[in-house]
Amino acid sequence: MATTTDDSTDTATATATVVGASGFAGGELLRLLAGHPEFEVTQATSREYANKTVGSVHPNLRGLDLRFTQPTDLDSVDVLFAAAPHGIAMAHVDAWQDAADNVVDLSADFRLETEAQYDEWYDGHSAPEHLDDSVYALPEISREELPGADLIAGGGCNATATILGLLPLHEAGILEDAHVVVDVKVGSSEGGAGGGAASSHAERSGVVRPYAPTGHRHEAEIEQELGLSVSFTAHAVDMVRGAAATCHVFPEDVPSKGDLWGAYRETYDDEPFVRTVAGGSGVYRYPEPKVVAGTNDAEVGFELDADNGRIVAFSAIDNVVKGSAGQAVHAANLALGFEETAGLNQLGMHPVGSP
Ligand SMILES: NC(=O)c1ccc[n+]([C@@H]2O[C@H](COP(=O)([O-])OP(=O)(O)OC[C@H]3O[C@@H](n4cnc5c(N)ncnc54)[C@H](OP(=O)(O)O)[C@@H]3O)[C@@H](O)[C@H]2O)c1
Repeated sequence: MATTTDDSTDTATATATVVGASGFAGGELLRLLAGHPEFEVTQATSREYANKTVGSVHPNLRGLDLRFTQPTDLDSVDVLFAAAPHGIAMAHVDAWQDAADNVVDLSADFRLETEAQYDEWYDGHSAPEHLDDSVYALPEISREELPGADLIAGGGCNATATILGLLPLHEAGILEDAHVVVDVKVGSSEGGAGGGAASSHAERSGVVRPYAPTGHRHEAEIEQELGLSVSFTAHAVDMVRGAAATCHVFPEDVPSKGDLWGAYRETYDDEPFVRTVAGGSGVYRYPEPKVVAGTNDAEVGFELDADNGRIVAFSAIDNVVKGSAGQAVHAANLALGFEETAGLNQLGMHPVGSP
């Protein structure tokens, strides 16, 4: 049983397992769920660190009284959150569904709708019979489908940043027949705790390195969820957390700035975790990952380049919160009928160094 710094375990109504809890996204799930009024994490798995305390891997979680267990020895719980590498969820989904009423998977295994998409973008799929049942987690586009969902697929972090940046333009019809070019800059935690040479300090320090100029797998999710074609490039940059999307949109009919404000207000005024930051005064006049680090917030914004017939749409998230663990908890709240924002009301920090 996890001991938390508040009294959430006294009031918890749902039990949870976190598979892949020693990783970066798994650690964020443990952190967020420890402060969640409805969840009690009863099991956290890691093959490498089985029997060790979660604090031995995640020093920020030393206050939790919880040890890793093997993923082969699952308890019966209400929700199983999975944060394992691509390919694991599709291999274990049946066992996970036997152990839990709801499965929330953070990997790419259930994000796409068809086996043909997995053949095209990944290395196929070994459990395609589940693809029809899964719901894409991002509540800003799937809120209506989440209540009662028992298989939820967390969105990719770059896809999440891009979709949130473009969504107001999509809903206002501005993307119809538009040419869209997206450039996302991402921090090293996107590569996970075992990120390899490309994410080591020596190699990452100071870089703005294109790592997927074309053909990034998240392009498939963006195109699926927004129903349009995008030209997508990703850069690895020298930050730990964060994904910042810059979307260059060349529409058929260029809207006015007032139209753009109207579109952003219409889409996001009632969203609890998205705020529009577009111009104004001060240093942070457009979305900035540093400002949302550690939070489930997304910042979106835009600027109009009327002379060139271009809209520049921006979006910034923390990849391991809004881009994965926070999005998963948000979706689970909706699936289980909890308060939508439960456990996710952390504000960001300022000033802060590179997050
Ligand atoms: N990092 C991000 O920004 C981000 C954003 C969105 C989505 N995601 C997705 O979230 C998932 C986890 O990413 P991450 O960055 O947290 O990776 P990570 O830091 O490498 O963690 C992976 C975790 O999975 C566990 N694991 C590996 N193989 C396993 C297996 N066969 N069975 C059960 N557990 C296994 C590992 O622990 P043991 O090997 O000790 O069991 C570890 O706890 C990935 O699918 C990733 O695509 C990540």
